[in-house]
Amino acid sequence: MLNDTPIRISSLVKDYGSLRAVSDVSFHLERGEIFGLLGPNGAGKTSIISTLVTLEAPTSGTVEIFGVDVTKNPKVTKSLTGFVPQELIHHGYFDVREILEFHSGYFGRRRNGDRIDYLLDRLSLAEHAHKKVKQLSGGMKRRLLIAKALVHEPKLLLLDEPTAGVDIELRSSLWKFVAELKGEGMSILLTTHYIQEAEELCDRVGILQGGQLKTIGRTRELIKGLTTREVALTLKPGASTIEHRCLIKVRDLPEGQGREMILRIPAQREVGELLSELNMDIAMIKDISVREGNLEDALRRVLEGV
Ligand SMILES: Nc1ncnc2c1ncn2[C@@H]1O[C@H](COP(=O)(O)OP(=O)(O)OP(=O)(O)O)[C@@H](O)[C@H]1O
Ligand SMILES: [Mg+2]
Repeated sequence: MLNDTPIRISSLVKDYGSLRAVSDVSFHLERGEIFGLLGPNGAGKTSIISTLVTLEAPTSGTVEIFGVDVTKNPKVTKSLTGFVPQELIHHGYFDVREILEFHSGYFGRRRNGDRIDYLLDRLSLAEHAHKKVKQLSGGMKRRLLIAKALVHEPKLLLLDEPTAGVDIELRSSLWKFVAELKGEGMSILLTTHYIQEAEELCDRVGILQGGQLKTIGRTRELIKGLTTREVALTLKPGASTIEHRCLIKVRDLPEGQGREMILRIPAQREVGELLSELNMDIAMIKDISVREGNLEDALRRVLEGV
């Protein structure tokens, strides 16, 4: 019997010999959300995904997909899951359509032509359908992997670095496609080193480091809780600088254009409040700009502890 939780990982440990790649990690995915697993190279992201798709067995702990233990019933969990691996495939001998047909057959979908046509079209692969894999570019191979993961209409999609080596235009169209899949009700777990894109796309993120889950939460809330806002005030020539505990830098602008004061305030603090505290002559302010904290700042804060 399936439940409503696409992924539930409980106290997962994964060792490779004496190396602990995943250390007591627990989290779950909510239905219909996009969850980003972030962290530096070697943090353990792929190792977690490998246990979800039974490429690796957990050393201890449990991994469930829609309530089914992947080690006890891999056939069921595989049929519920689409998986795009980080490494590119090399079935050089077959063409794109054949690969999608074989893969459909593997899931017992012999007459899957409509679904295959739909995916070829959505992933801009239709004109390459009869090319052998070895004739495809890296970005096309990546799209083929995504099509392959979706032929059997899974309810859960695992994307391990789906846009690595993909050009900027294709990257944005792939992310748009992922957002549309979410709109169709799919639950998605992804890893990426493109943090700005994760910020736009992910409802929640988990930050891994050295195999440990350091932080997990709603993307907006993590950014708010972990970052600051930087307010730059450009002052007219002759204006004097005001002392304030939030002031982090003052610099003279070239050619007598005045000076700039940089202040750092908590993410939830308003600029208006800061200005009234500064109690300065507003006529002396030439310009104000605010740089909001982002997910990259939050990530750096967690990873570097600064
Ligand atoms: N099959 C394996 N055998 C031995 N060690 C492995 C194996 N797979 C991964 N490791 C090690 O486990 C650790 C975690 O690797 P993993 O691939 O899970 O990291 P990752 O977060 O996916 O990194 P990346 O961002 O580079 O993809 C690393 O130290 C890696 O060298
Ligand atoms: Mg990886």
